[in-house]
Amino acid sequence: MSDFLPGLEGVPATKSAISFIDGEKGILSYRGYPLETLATNSTFEETTLLLLDGELPTKAALNRFSKQLRSSYRIKYHIREMMRHFPHTGHPMDMLQTAVCSLGMFYPGTECLTDADSCKDIDYVRNMTVNIIAQMAPLVAMWEHMRQGYDPINPRDDLSVAENLLYMFTGKEPDSLMARIMDVCLILHAEHTLNASTFAALVAGSTLASPYSVISAAIGTLSGPLHGGANQRVVGMLQEIGSPENVEAWVDKKLANKEVIWGMGHREYKVKDPRATILHKLVTKLVEERGGSLDKMFATAMKLEEVCVDRLGHKGVYPNVDFYSGILYSEMGIPEDQFTALFAVARSAGWLAHWREQISNNRIYRPTQIYVGHEQREYIPMSERKKAPKQ
Ligand code: COA
Repeated sequence: MSDFLPGLEGVPATKSAISFIDGEKGILSYRGYPLETLATNSTFEETTLLLLDGELPTKAALNRFSKQLRSSYRIKYHIREMMRHFPHTGHPMDMLQTAVCSLGMFYPGTECLTDADSCKDIDYVRNMTVNIIAQMAPLVAMWEHMRQGYDPINPRDDLSVAENLLYMFTGKEPDSLMARIMDVCLILHAEHTLNASTFAALVAGSTLASPYSVISAAIGTLSGPLHGGANQRVVGMLQEIGSPENVEAWVDKKLANKEVIWGMGHREYKVKDPRATILHKLVTKLVEERGGSLDKMFATAMKLEEVCVDRLGHKGVYPNVDFYSGILYSEMGIPEDQFTALFAVARSAGWLAHWREQISNNRIYRPTQIYVGHEQREYIPMSERKKAPKQ
Protein backbone atom coordinates (compact mmCIF):
# COMPACT_ATOMS: atom_id res chain seq x y z
CA MET A 1 0.00 0.00 0.00
CA SER A 2 1.30 3.48 -0.83
CA ASP A 3 2.05 6.06 1.87
CA PHE A 4 -0.63 8.33 3.21
CA LEU A 5 -0.22 11.91 1.92
CA PRO A 6 -2.09 14.48 4.07
CA GLY A 7 -4.43 16.57 1.93
CA LEU A 8 -3.83 13.99 -0.85
CA GLU A 9 -1.17 16.37 -2.11
CA GLY A 10 0.02 15.25 -5.53
CA VAL A 11 -2.18 12.12 -5.60
CA PRO A 12 -3.89 11.80 -9.02
CA ALA A 13 -7.61 11.16 -8.41
CA THR A 14 -8.86 11.48 -11.98
CA LYS A 15 -7.89 12.14 -15.59
CA SER A 16 -9.24 15.35 -17.08
CA ALA A 17 -8.90 17.37 -20.29
CA ILE A 18 -10.56 20.50 -18.91
CA SER A 19 -7.82 22.70 -17.45
CA PHE A 20 -4.10 22.69 -16.75
CA ILE A 21 -1.88 24.34 -14.14
CA ASP A 22 1.88 24.74 -14.09
CA GLY A 23 2.39 26.02 -10.56
CA GLU A 24 6.10 26.67 -10.96
CA LYS A 25 5.64 28.83 -14.05
CA GLY A 26 2.31 30.37 -13.01
CA ILE A 27 0.40 29.00 -16.01
CA LEU A 28 -3.33 28.22 -16.09
CA SER A 29 -5.15 27.20 -19.26
CA TYR A 30 -8.70 26.08 -20.02
CA ARG A 31 -8.93 23.43 -22.76
CA GLY A 32 -5.46 24.51 -23.92
CA TYR A 33 -6.19 28.24 -24.11
CA PRO A 34 -4.13 30.43 -21.74
CA LEU A 35 -6.28 32.22 -19.19
CA GLU A 36 -4.82 35.60 -20.18
CA THR A 37 -6.07 35.06 -23.76
CA LEU A 38 -9.56 34.19 -22.55
CA ALA A 39 -9.64 37.12 -20.10
CA THR A 40 -8.76 39.45 -22.98
CA ASN A 41 -10.94 38.03 -25.74
CA SER A 42 -13.70 35.85 -24.34
CA THR A 43 -16.92 36.20 -22.34
CA PHE A 44 -18.17 34.09 -19.44
CA GLU A 45 -20.77 32.48 -21.71
CA GLU A 46 -18.20 31.55 -24.35
CA THR A 47 -15.70 30.30 -21.75
CA THR A 48 -18.43 28.18 -20.16
CA LEU A 49 -19.19 26.51 -23.49
CA LEU A 50 -15.48 25.97 -24.04
CA LEU A 51 -15.19 24.28 -20.64
CA LEU A 52 -18.29 22.15 -21.19
CA ASP A 53 -17.82 21.14 -24.80
CA GLY A 54 -14.05 21.30 -25.19
CA GLU A 55 -14.01 23.65 -28.20
CA LEU A 56 -14.59 27.35 -28.81
CA PRO A 57 -18.20 27.63 -30.04
CA THR A 58 -19.32 28.94 -33.40
CA LYS A 59 -21.31 32.17 -33.36
CA ALA A 60 -24.57 30.26 -33.84
CA ALA A 61 -23.80 27.80 -31.01
CA LEU A 62 -22.88 30.64 -28.64
CA ASN A 63 -26.06 32.56 -29.50
CA ARG A 64 -28.13 29.46 -28.89
CA PHE A 65 -26.46 28.81 -25.55
CA SER A 66 -26.76 32.46 -24.42
CA LYS A 67 -30.45 32.45 -25.32
CA GLN A 68 -31.00 29.22 -23.38
CA LEU A 69 -29.18 30.66 -20.34
CA ARG A 70 -31.10 33.94 -20.43
CA SER A 71 -34.45 32.19 -20.68
CA SER A 72 -33.55 30.21 -17.53
CA TYR A 73 -32.65 33.18 -15.26
CA ARG A 74 -36.08 33.23 -13.59
CA ILE A 75 -36.33 31.44 -10.26
CA LYS A 76 -39.45 29.45 -9.44
CA TYR A 77 -41.91 31.10 -7.10
CA HIS A 78 -41.69 28.24 -4.59
CA ILE A 79 -37.94 28.64 -4.25
CA ARG A 80 -38.40 32.37 -3.61
CA GLU A 81 -41.03 31.58 -0.99
CA MET A 82 -38.70 29.10 0.66
CA MET A 83 -35.89 31.67 0.70
CA ARG A 84 -38.13 34.20 2.43
CA HIS A 85 -38.14 31.90 5.46
CA PHE A 86 -34.37 31.60 5.70
CA PRO A 87 -32.84 33.55 8.61
CA HIS A 88 -31.73 36.93 7.30
CA THR A 89 -28.44 36.51 9.15
CA GLY A 90 -27.72 33.28 7.23
CA HIS A 91 -24.50 33.21 5.24
CA PRO A 92 -25.03 33.56 1.45
CA MET A 93 -23.10 30.32 0.85
CA ASP A 94 -25.47 28.42 3.14
CA MET A 95 -28.43 30.01 1.34
CA LEU A 96 -26.94 29.09 -2.05
CA GLN A 97 -26.19 25.51 -1.08
CA THR A 98 -29.72 25.02 0.25
CA ALA A 99 -31.44 26.75 -2.67
CA VAL A 100 -29.45 24.88 -5.34
CA CYS A 101 -30.10 21.55 -3.67
CA SER A 102 -33.83 22.40 -3.47
CA LEU A 103 -33.93 23.19 -7.19
CA GLY A 104 -33.42 19.47 -7.76
CA MET A 105 -36.92 18.81 -6.40
CA PHE A 106 -38.41 21.17 -8.97
CA TYR A 107 -36.44 19.90 -11.96
CA PRO A 108 -36.78 16.11 -11.91
CA GLY A 109 -35.33 13.72 -14.43
CA THR A 110 -32.62 12.06 -12.39
CA GLU A 111 -34.03 8.67 -13.39
CA CYS A 112 -31.80 8.93 -16.43
CA LEU A 113 -28.86 8.82 -14.03
CA THR A 114 -29.76 5.42 -12.66
CA ASP A 115 -27.13 3.66 -14.65
CA ALA A 116 -23.90 4.89 -16.08
CA ASP A 117 -24.91 4.23 -19.69
CA SER A 118 -28.05 6.32 -19.65
CA CYS A 119 -26.01 9.27 -18.30
CA LYS A 120 -25.23 9.80 -21.92
CA ASP A 121 -28.69 11.38 -22.21
CA ILE A 122 -27.29 14.54 -23.73
CA ASP A 123 -30.47 16.60 -23.45
CA TYR A 124 -30.88 15.96 -19.73
CA VAL A 125 -27.24 16.76 -19.05
CA ARG A 126 -27.31 19.95 -21.15
CA ASN A 127 -30.64 21.16 -19.74
CA MET A 128 -29.61 20.64 -16.13
CA THR A 129 -26.25 22.26 -16.79
CA VAL A 130 -27.84 25.34 -18.35
CA ASN A 131 -30.42 25.54 -15.60
CA ILE A 132 -27.90 25.48 -12.77
CA ILE A 133 -25.44 27.93 -14.34
CA ALA A 134 -28.28 30.33 -15.27
CA GLN A 135 -29.88 30.31 -11.81
CA MET A 136 -26.81 30.67 -9.59
CA ALA A 137 -26.33 34.43 -10.10
CA PRO A 138 -30.04 35.32 -9.74
CA LEU A 139 -30.22 33.33 -6.48
CA VAL A 140 -27.23 35.18 -5.05
CA ALA A 141 -28.52 38.62 -6.12
CA MET A 142 -32.08 37.90 -4.96
CA TRP A 143 -30.84 36.96 -1.51
CA GLU A 144 -29.15 40.35 -1.12
CA HIS A 145 -32.54 42.11 -1.31
CA MET A 146 -34.55 39.46 0.50
CA ARG A 147 -32.28 39.38 3.53
CA GLN A 148 -32.78 43.13 3.86
CA GLY A 149 -36.54 42.64 3.80
CA TYR A 150 -37.12 43.81 0.21
CA ASP A 151 -38.58 42.07 -2.81
CA PRO A 152 -35.87 40.83 -5.16
CA ILE A 153 -35.30 42.48 -8.53
CA ASN A 154 -36.47 40.41 -11.47
CA PRO A 155 -33.80 39.23 -13.92
CA ARG A 156 -33.58 40.72 -17.42
CA ASP A 157 -33.19 38.35 -20.33
CA ASP A 158 -31.62 41.04 -22.51
CA LEU A 159 -28.51 41.05 -20.28
CA SER A 160 -25.49 38.73 -20.10
CA VAL A 161 -24.80 36.70 -16.94
CA ALA A 162 -22.36 39.37 -15.69
CA GLU A 163 -24.61 42.32 -16.57
CA ASN A 164 -27.70 40.67 -15.11
CA LEU A 165 -25.84 39.79 -11.91
CA LEU A 166 -24.86 43.42 -11.34
CA TYR A 167 -28.29 44.65 -12.41
CA MET A 168 -30.07 42.33 -9.96
CA PHE A 169 -27.69 43.38 -7.16
CA THR A 170 -27.87 47.13 -7.65
CA GLY A 171 -31.12 47.72 -9.57
CA LYS A 172 -29.09 49.69 -12.15
CA GLU A 173 -27.78 48.56 -15.50
CA PRO A 174 -23.98 48.46 -15.01
CA ASP A 175 -21.66 50.66 -17.08
CA SER A 176 -19.58 48.84 -19.65
CA LEU A 177 -16.34 48.94 -17.58
CA MET A 178 -17.94 47.38 -14.50
CA ALA A 179 -19.82 44.81 -16.60
CA ARG A 180 -16.58 43.81 -18.34
CA ILE A 181 -14.69 43.58 -15.03
CA MET A 182 -17.40 41.29 -13.63
CA ASP A 183 -17.33 39.22 -16.82
CA VAL A 184 -13.54 38.79 -16.52
CA CYS A 185 -13.89 37.88 -12.80
CA LEU A 186 -16.36 35.16 -13.79
CA ILE A 187 -13.97 33.83 -16.46
CA LEU A 188 -11.06 33.77 -13.98
CA HIS A 189 -13.04 31.88 -11.34
CA ALA A 190 -14.77 29.45 -13.71
CA GLU A 191 -12.37 26.52 -13.41
CA HIS A 192 -9.23 25.42 -11.59
CA THR A 193 -8.43 21.71 -12.04
CA LEU A 194 -9.00 19.33 -9.14
CA ASN A 195 -9.37 21.64 -6.14
CA ALA A 196 -11.30 20.65 -2.99
CA SER A 197 -14.76 21.71 -4.22
CA THR A 198 -14.33 20.12 -7.66
CA PHE A 199 -13.18 16.93 -5.97
CA ALA A 200 -16.28 17.07 -3.73
CA ALA A 201 -18.40 17.44 -6.89
CA LEU A 202 -16.71 14.43 -8.45
CA VAL A 203 -17.18 12.30 -5.33
CA ALA A 204 -20.89 13.20 -5.17
CA GLY A 205 -21.27 12.80 -8.94
CA SER A 206 -19.65 9.37 -8.89
CA THR A 207 -22.65 8.00 -6.97
CA LEU A 208 -24.89 9.27 -9.83
CA ALA A 209 -26.47 11.78 -7.46
CA SER A 210 -28.45 14.54 -9.22
CA PRO A 211 -26.43 17.50 -10.58
CA TYR A 212 -28.18 19.71 -7.99
CA SER A 213 -26.80 17.55 -5.16
CA VAL A 214 -23.42 17.53 -6.89
CA ILE A 215 -23.26 21.34 -7.06
CA SER A 216 -24.61 21.68 -3.57
CA ALA A 217 -21.78 19.44 -2.26
CA ALA A 218 -19.30 21.60 -4.13
CA ILE A 219 -20.78 24.85 -2.76
CA GLY A 220 -20.52 23.57 0.82
CA THR A 221 -16.89 22.65 0.22
CA LEU A 222 -16.06 26.00 -1.39
CA SER A 223 -17.45 27.88 1.61
CA GLY A 224 -14.52 27.14 3.92
CA PRO A 225 -11.94 29.91 4.57
CA LEU A 226 -9.05 27.81 3.28
CA HIS A 227 -10.77 27.57 -0.12
CA GLY A 228 -13.26 30.13 -1.48
CA GLY A 229 -13.96 31.83 1.82
CA ALA A 230 -10.62 33.67 1.85
CA ASN A 231 -11.67 36.56 -0.44
CA GLN A 232 -14.23 37.78 2.07
CA ARG A 233 -11.48 38.03 4.68
CA VAL A 234 -9.04 39.95 2.50
CA VAL A 235 -11.06 43.18 2.46
CA GLY A 236 -11.55 43.01 6.25
CA MET A 237 -7.81 42.48 6.61
CA LEU A 238 -6.98 45.50 4.41
CA GLN A 239 -9.43 47.64 6.38
CA GLU A 240 -7.86 46.47 9.65
CA ILE A 241 -4.37 47.39 8.40
CA GLY A 242 -5.72 50.80 7.32
CA SER A 243 -2.81 52.24 5.33
CA PRO A 244 0.49 51.26 3.69
CA GLU A 245 2.62 52.57 6.61
CA ASN A 246 1.07 50.01 8.96
CA VAL A 247 1.73 47.00 6.74
CA GLU A 248 5.21 45.89 7.89
CA ALA A 249 4.44 45.88 11.61
CA TRP A 250 1.07 44.19 11.00
CA VAL A 251 2.56 41.38 8.90
CA ASP A 252 5.43 40.75 11.32
CA LYS A 253 3.02 40.49 14.23
CA LYS A 254 0.77 38.06 12.34
CA LEU A 255 3.68 35.87 11.30
CA ALA A 256 5.17 35.91 14.80
CA ASN A 257 1.78 34.64 16.06
CA LYS A 258 1.81 31.98 13.31
CA GLU A 259 -1.35 33.44 11.77
CA VAL A 260 -2.34 33.15 8.12
CA ILE A 261 -2.29 36.15 5.77
CA TRP A 262 -5.50 35.83 3.75
CA GLY A 263 -5.21 35.83 -0.04
CA MET A 264 -1.61 34.55 0.14
CA GLY A 265 -0.34 31.10 -0.72
CA HIS A 266 -1.66 28.28 -2.82
CA ARG A 267 -1.18 24.52 -2.89
CA GLU A 268 -0.49 24.57 -6.64
CA TYR A 269 1.25 27.90 -7.31
CA LYS A 270 4.72 28.59 -6.06
CA VAL A 271 4.76 31.95 -7.86
CA LYS A 272 2.09 34.66 -8.17
CA ASP A 273 -1.24 33.08 -9.16
CA PRO A 274 -1.87 34.09 -12.83
CA ARG A 275 -5.44 35.05 -11.87
CA ALA A 276 -4.06 37.44 -9.24
CA THR A 277 -1.87 39.02 -11.94
CA ILE A 278 -4.91 39.64 -14.19
CA LEU A 279 -7.01 40.94 -11.28
CA HIS A 280 -4.14 43.20 -10.17
CA LYS A 281 -4.19 44.79 -13.66
CA LEU A 282 -7.97 45.22 -13.50
CA VAL A 283 -7.76 46.96 -10.12
CA THR A 284 -4.99 49.22 -11.47
CA LYS A 285 -7.24 50.16 -14.41
CA LEU A 286 -10.17 50.86 -12.13
CA VAL A 287 -8.06 52.97 -9.77
CA GLU A 288 -6.78 55.01 -12.74
CA GLU A 289 -10.33 55.61 -13.95
CA ARG A 290 -12.13 56.03 -10.62
CA GLY A 291 -9.58 56.79 -7.88
CA GLY A 292 -11.34 57.92 -4.69
CA SER A 293 -11.60 55.60 -1.71
CA LEU A 294 -10.21 52.73 -3.73
CA ASP A 295 -6.75 54.38 -3.82
CA LYS A 296 -5.89 53.75 -0.18
CA MET A 297 -7.08 50.14 -0.13
CA PHE A 298 -5.15 49.40 -3.31
CA ALA A 299 -1.99 51.08 -2.01
CA THR A 300 -2.28 49.03 1.19
CA ALA A 301 -2.77 45.83 -0.84
CA MET A 302 0.29 46.54 -3.00
CA LYS A 303 2.45 47.20 0.06
CA LEU A 304 1.08 44.04 1.68
CA GLU A 305 2.01 42.03 -1.40
CA GLU A 306 5.53 43.49 -1.33
CA VAL A 307 6.06 42.73 2.37
CA CYS A 308 4.54 39.23 2.18
CA VAL A 309 6.65 38.31 -0.82
CA ASP A 310 9.72 39.53 1.08
CA ARG A 311 8.83 37.47 4.19
CA LEU A 312 7.18 34.42 2.59
CA GLY A 313 8.37 34.30 -1.04
CA HIS A 314 11.10 31.76 -0.15
CA LYS A 315 8.29 29.35 0.90
CA GLY A 316 6.56 29.84 -2.45
CA VAL A 317 3.83 31.99 -0.89
CA TYR A 318 2.54 34.71 -3.24
CA PRO A 319 -0.85 36.41 -3.82
CA ASN A 320 -3.62 34.06 -4.89
CA VAL A 321 -6.87 34.76 -6.76
CA ASP A 322 -8.58 36.01 -3.60
CA PHE A 323 -6.08 38.78 -2.92
CA TYR A 324 -7.37 41.33 -5.44
CA SER A 325 -10.89 40.11 -6.27
CA GLY A 326 -12.40 41.48 -3.05
CA ILE A 327 -11.18 45.00 -3.85
CA LEU A 328 -13.04 44.87 -7.17
CA TYR A 329 -16.24 43.46 -5.69
CA SER A 330 -16.21 46.10 -2.93
CA GLU A 331 -16.03 48.82 -5.57
CA MET A 332 -19.07 47.26 -7.28
CA GLY A 333 -21.00 47.70 -4.02
CA ILE A 334 -21.15 43.99 -3.25
CA PRO A 335 -21.06 43.08 0.47
CA GLU A 336 -18.06 41.07 1.65
CA ASP A 337 -20.03 38.00 2.72
CA GLN A 338 -21.30 37.65 -0.87
CA PHE A 339 -17.81 37.37 -2.43
CA THR A 340 -17.57 33.61 -2.06
CA ALA A 341 -21.06 33.21 -3.51
CA LEU A 342 -19.87 35.10 -6.62
CA PHE A 343 -16.96 32.67 -6.79
CA ALA A 344 -19.51 29.81 -6.74
CA VAL A 345 -21.56 31.43 -9.53
CA ALA A 346 -18.51 31.32 -11.80
CA ARG A 347 -17.21 27.96 -10.63
CA SER A 348 -20.52 26.25 -11.40
CA ALA A 349 -19.24 26.14 -15.01
CA GLY A 350 -16.10 24.20 -14.05
CA TRP A 351 -17.89 21.91 -11.60
CA LEU A 352 -20.45 20.96 -14.24
CA ALA A 353 -17.78 20.47 -16.91
CA HIS A 354 -16.06 17.97 -14.57
CA TRP A 355 -19.39 16.32 -13.71
CA ARG A 356 -20.13 15.87 -17.39
CA GLU A 357 -16.66 14.59 -18.16
CA GLN A 358 -16.88 12.06 -15.33
CA ILE A 359 -20.35 10.64 -15.89
CA SER A 360 -19.45 9.71 -19.44
CA ASN A 361 -17.02 7.18 -17.96
CA ASN A 362 -18.03 6.85 -14.33
CA ARG A 363 -16.75 4.72 -11.49
CA ILE A 364 -17.84 5.33 -7.90
CA TYR A 365 -15.08 6.73 -5.65
CA ARG A 366 -14.06 4.40 -2.88
CA PRO A 367 -10.57 5.25 -1.60
CA THR A 368 -9.00 3.37 1.22
CA GLN A 369 -7.66 4.31 4.64
CA ILE A 370 -4.79 3.32 6.87
CA TYR A 371 -6.44 1.98 10.04
CA VAL A 372 -4.70 3.24 13.18
CA GLY A 373 -7.32 2.19 15.77
CA HIS A 374 -7.57 -0.68 18.27
CA GLU A 375 -7.30 -4.36 17.49
CA GLN A 376 -10.52 -6.25 18.22
CA ARG A 377 -11.54 -5.72 21.88
CA GLU A 378 -13.87 -7.28 24.43
CA TYR A 379 -17.12 -5.38 25.07
CA ILE A 380 -17.13 -4.13 28.72
CA PRO A 381 -20.50 -4.09 30.48
CA MET A 382 -21.52 -0.62 31.76
CA SER A 383 -21.26 -1.66 35.42
CA GLU A 384 -17.59 -2.61 35.01
CA ARG A 385 -16.42 0.55 33.24
CA LYS A 386 -14.06 2.54 35.44
CA LYS A 387 -13.06 5.64 33.45
CA ALA A 388 -15.17 8.03 31.36
CA PRO A 389 -13.79 8.17 27.80
CA LYS A 390 -11.95 11.35 26.81
CA GLN A 391 -14.32 13.72 24.94
N1 COA B 1 0.21 33.17 5.44
C1 COA B 1 1.32 32.83 6.15
N2 COA B 1 2.04 31.72 5.92
C2 COA B 1 1.63 30.92 4.93
C3 COA B 1 0.51 31.20 4.16
C4 COA B 1 -0.22 32.38 4.44
N3 COA B 1 -1.30 32.71 3.75
N4 COA B 1 0.33 30.22 3.25
C5 COA B 1 1.30 29.34 3.45
N5 COA B 1 2.11 29.75 4.47
C6 COA B 1 3.28 29.07 4.97
C7 COA B 1 2.88 27.91 5.89
O1 COA B 1 2.76 28.35 7.24
C8 COA B 1 4.01 26.94 5.69
O2 COA B 1 5.10 27.40 6.46
P1 COA B 1 6.10 26.34 7.18
O3 COA B 1 6.68 25.53 6.06
O4 COA B 1 7.09 27.19 7.86
O5 COA B 1 5.23 25.54 8.10
C9 COA B 1 4.37 27.12 4.22
O6 COA B 1 3.96 28.47 3.87
C10 COA B 1 3.69 26.13 3.29
O7 COA B 1 2.29 26.26 3.43
P2 COA B 1 1.25 25.06 3.58
O8 COA B 1 0.27 25.38 4.67
O9 COA B 1 1.96 23.76 3.63
O10 COA B 1 0.49 25.15 2.19
P3 COA B 1 -0.81 24.35 1.80
O11 COA B 1 -0.61 24.00 0.37
O12 COA B 1 -1.12 23.25 2.75
O13 COA B 1 -1.97 25.44 1.96
C11 COA B 1 -3.34 27.30 1.57
C12 COA B 1 -2.38 26.28 0.95
C13 COA B 1 -4.05 28.06 0.43
C14 COA B 1 -4.42 26.57 2.40
C15 COA B 1 -2.56 28.26 2.46
O14 COA B 1 -1.60 28.94 1.68
C16 COA B 1 -3.45 29.26 3.17
O15 COA B 1 -3.98 28.96 4.24
N6 COA B 1 -3.63 30.50 2.57
C17 COA B 1 -4.52 31.49 3.14
C18 COA B 1 -5.95 31.18 2.77
C19 COA B 1 -6.27 31.56 1.34
O16 COA B 1 -5.95 32.64 0.89
N7 COA B 1 -6.92 30.62 0.65
C20 COA B 1 -7.35 30.81 -0.72
C21 COA B 1 -6.67 29.86 -1.62
S1 COA B 1 -7.09 30.23 -3.32
